[in-house]
Amino acid sequence: MNSYQSKLSDTDFSRLSQYIYSNYGIKMPDSKRQMLQARLQKRLRANELTSFEDYCDLLFAGESNGQELIHMIDVVSTNKTDFFREPNHFEFLKTVALGSLTRSSTSPLKVWSAGCSSGEEPYTIAMVINEFLGAGSIVDFSILGTDISTSILRKAVNAIYTEERVSGIPLEVKKKYFLRSKDSEKQLVRIVPKVRSKVKFQRLNFMDPDYPSVPMDFDIVFCRNVLIYFDKPTQERVINRLCAHLKPGGYFFLGHSESIMDMKVPLKQIKPTIYQKVN
Ligand SMILES: C[S@@+](CC[C@H](N)C(=O)[O-])C[C@H]1O[C@@H](n2cnc3c(N)ncnc32)[C@H](O)[C@@H]1O
Repeated sequence: MNSYQSKLSDTDFSRLSQYIYSNYGIKMPDSKRQMLQARLQKRLRANELTSFEDYCDLLFAGESNGQELIHMIDVVSTNKTDFFREPNHFEFLKTVALGSLTRSSTSPLKVWSAGCSSGEEPYTIAMVINEFLGAGSIVDFSILGTDISTSILRKAVNAIYTEERVSGIPLEVKKKYFLRSKDSEKQLVRIVPKVRSKVKFQRLNFMDPDYPSVPMDFDIVFCRNVLIYFDKPTQERVINRLCAHLKPGGYFFLGHSESIMDMKVPLKQIKPTIYQKVN
C-alpha cells in the first residue's frame, strides 16, 4: 500500500476525531471519516509517512513541536466562503444597523468577523461600511477577522482573489474596490489598499476558554457558517463568549442555517439570523 491510499483504522479515526472535537469543537461523526481520510492524505505525503498510525504518533507525540497540529487543522477545517454571501445581511447592515449605530455617535465602528476564512466576509463588510459612510465621513471604522486556520489567514491578509471569485460583484463595486493584476494572464484581483488597511487578522480558536487578545467593545459581530460544525452546547458556549465582546445594542449575525433557539444567550432576534445584544 502506498501513502496515497492509506486507510484510517478505527483506532486512528477515533484518536483524530476526539482530538479535533475537543480542541476545535468540530464534530467528526463516522459519516465524515472518508472526508477526513482524504484530506489528511496530503499531510501524510508532506511528512513522508505511509500510515495513519505513524501520522497520529507524529501528531500526538509532540515530535513536530505542535507544528503538525497547525497543518492538520488547516486541512480539516472547511473554508467555503464568498463575497456578499447571504446578501440580505449586508442589505440589513446598510439600511438598518449602520444608521442606528451612527445616529447618535461618531465613535469609530468596530466589527468582528469571527471565523473569517479567506477574507471575503470582512472585506465585504468593509466595502459596505465604506459605501454607507461616504467620502469625508467623520466616522471611522475597523474590522477584525479571526480564524483558526493559519493558511487561510495568510490568504486573507494577501487579499488576492481570482477574477472568477469576484465575477458576481457589480462592475461599479469591482472598479472601486479591486485592482487588476498587471499581468492580465494571471486573472487575479486584489482588494484596494484603502479597504485592506481597515481589516486586521488574527488567529483565534473559539474553543479557548476566553479571548483576551480581542477587544471587548464591538458594535457588530459576524459569526456565520462556523457554529454549524459544532454541537449545541459548544455553540451556546461560543455565542456567550462572543457576546461578551459585543456592546449592548450591538448586532450579531449568524449563518442562514444557524440559530440560537433554546439557548441562554444575551441576544434578541430582530430578523431571522440577525440579533441584537440585550443589556
Ligand atoms: C465555512 S467558513 C465560514 C466563513 C465565513 N464566515 C462565511 O460565512 O462565508 C468557517 C470557518 O470557521 C473556521 N473555524 C472552524 N473551527 C474553528 C474554531 N474552533 N475556531 C475558530 N475558527 C474556526 C474555519 O477555519 C473556517 O475558515
